[in-house]
Amino acid sequence: MAAGRAFFCVPSSIGATARRLAFASPPPRPLASAPHRRGRGRCCASISSSSDASASAPPPYVLTTPLYYVNAPPHMGSAYTTIAADAVARFQRLLQKKVIFITGTDEHGEKIATSAEASGRNPKEHCDTISNSYKMLWADLDIEYDKFIRTTDPKHEAVVNDFYSRVLSSGDLYRADYEGLYCVGCEEYKDEKELVENNCCPVHLKPCVPRKEDNYFFALSKYQHKLEELLRRNPDFVRPSYRLHEVQGWIKSGLRDFSISRASVEWGIPVPNDTKQTIYVWFDALLGYLSASLDDGEQASLQKAVDRGWPASLHLIGKDILRFHAVYWPAMLMSAGISLPDAVFGHGFLTKDGMKMGKSLGNTLEPKDLVDRFGADAVRYFFLREVEFGNDGDYSEGRFINTVNAHLANTIGNLLNRTLGLLKKNCGSMLAFDSMAAADGSSFKNSVESLVDKAKGHYENLSLTSACETVLEIGNLGNLYIDEQAPWSCFKQGGESAEKAAKDLVIILETMRIIAIALSPVTPSLSLRIYTQLGFTEDQFSTLTWEDTKWGVLKAGQAMMEPKPIFAKIETEAEEKDQATPKAAKGGKKKSGSKGLVEA
Ligand code: MSP
Repeated sequence: MAAGRAFFCVPSSIGATARRLAFASPPPRPLASAPHRRGRGRCCASISSSSDASASAPPPYVLTTPLYYVNAPPHMGSAYTTIAADAVARFQRLLQKKVIFITGTDEHGEKIATSAEASGRNPKEHCDTISNSYKMLWADLDIEYDKFIRTTDPKHEAVVNDFYSRVLSSGDLYRADYEGLYCVGCEEYKDEKELVENNCCPVHLKPCVPRKEDNYFFALSKYQHKLEELLRRNPDFVRPSYRLHEVQGWIKSGLRDFSISRASVEWGIPVPNDTKQTIYVWFDALLGYLSASLDDGEQASLQKAVDRGWPASLHLIGKDILRFHAVYWPAMLMSAGISLPDAVFGHGFLTKDGMKMGKSLGNTLEPKDLVDRFGADAVRYFFLREVEFGNDGDYSEGRFINTVNAHLANTIGNLLNRTLGLLKKNCGSMLAFDSMAAADGSSFKNSVESLVDKAKGHYENLSLTSACETVLEIGNLGNLYIDEQAPWSCFKQGGESAEKAAKDLVIILETMRIIAIALSPVTPSLSLRIYTQLGFTEDQFSTLTWEDTKWGVLKAGQAMMEPKPIFAKIETEAEEKDQATPKAAKGGKKKSGSKGLVEA
């Protein structure tokens, strides 16, 4: 941020060295999307979209992850935001919303140019390679995004140019000298007060470098009151609430204009009418949220991008980039006359030994390794269940294994497996009752229904940890029920007891069906495996909605599949050693590697 240091040349508003840029055209009229959009938090006047077709359609749910820097391949920290976003997108699709889930890569600027040089590749080749590694990881992690934007895409450049003209027309750009300390890792000028020993950036722990430049500036200070008003009127604009307070604190302490161009960086989008400068990477990248909705090869424009998918419903980001999203971005949009997003949610960091896990610090965890060893469902589940969404959280392999074994292999996997085993043995794998009739007079169904409602509320509220916990509670309830009812001994008694036992199995299987849907935003493949074991097809699974969590779908006569473990229990090193001794060899199915997976 262009912040106040002693040798700072541009004061919080236009300074002596600043030169206003002339603009020929009148200030821009507001650009806004279709009139159907939600009303909250819009502080810019809205005009109709140019697209008539969308006028009566319900608004899409537009969800974004940050666009990831391509200085290095993704690590678990980058994967974390995307996993969370994918869970939110899947949940919103279950609510039958049209979802536009946007992700992508941020490919310009000094940091990327330097990493390309270090890798011995030209910047474009470097970006292609790393951007592709993100796409591959998203496939491995079962991420179902709708749009993947690269800031080197030609359509993006067109949108940046249009946007620049609008901000220029608003009279919010001027030229001035700037001198300050720059963190290349953050791609940001730092305030001396923020720095730790030896002028090091607190996030990257590397010294910031002195820079002096003649740049174009954005008059952020002009938006101070409008931003205050936005947050006062719509406190949900920044979530969780403790991050709102942080943002309010920044704004209260005074907003300073920031430079939006770089004279020293070649790898970027040229400033219109001044090819000696490139656009500052953040001013460029934030616009990826708009350009993402355009198709490759079409005539790109800012207006078209706004019509296609704006405003965003939710920007999911890490807390380190909150200022860009909750202060700079809304001010930029106000300046350009474009509607504001509904909300920005800043989550915490995955840490290793208490430090932010990151490419620059080199203390990362490889998500691909975790997926290869434990599967996408386990990785997705662990991080969403164990790291309270919003707060920091530490990873340890022991905790990972204990959690997924206890929850996915035991509570869920075993419950399904033993119920199907009993059904096979006693009922020929066929349901003898409708699930509604089976639960008649039992309070169990009500308990499941109220937990499902609770889980829905948690998803809506982005309390992803609580959503997982609540679904697991349903599993615990199911285990308790089957243990108490003991259908295995009731079958032996025959007569009415056997009939009751057959009903109890239907009750548990209907419960499993509901669990599968309610956990599908987090563990999509595991949920599909549960669903197909219950005799449904993949197509049936793919058209499910949250409405299908209502009790009563399983019907008498439905045939279940052969019971097969749906989640492989992860074997710990101790168990593996135990298995290696002849007397303990139990014949579990293992994967190669130092630790493996065994069937639960
Ligand atoms: N390129 C910018 C974002 C531009 S958005 C228009 C950027 N990229 S990043 O690759 O450095 O970070 C992307 C996201 O990953 C951020 O939300 C950041 O918080 C998140 N994470 C990176 N390391 C992280 C952890 N160790 N833990 C959790 N998330 C972290 O910033």
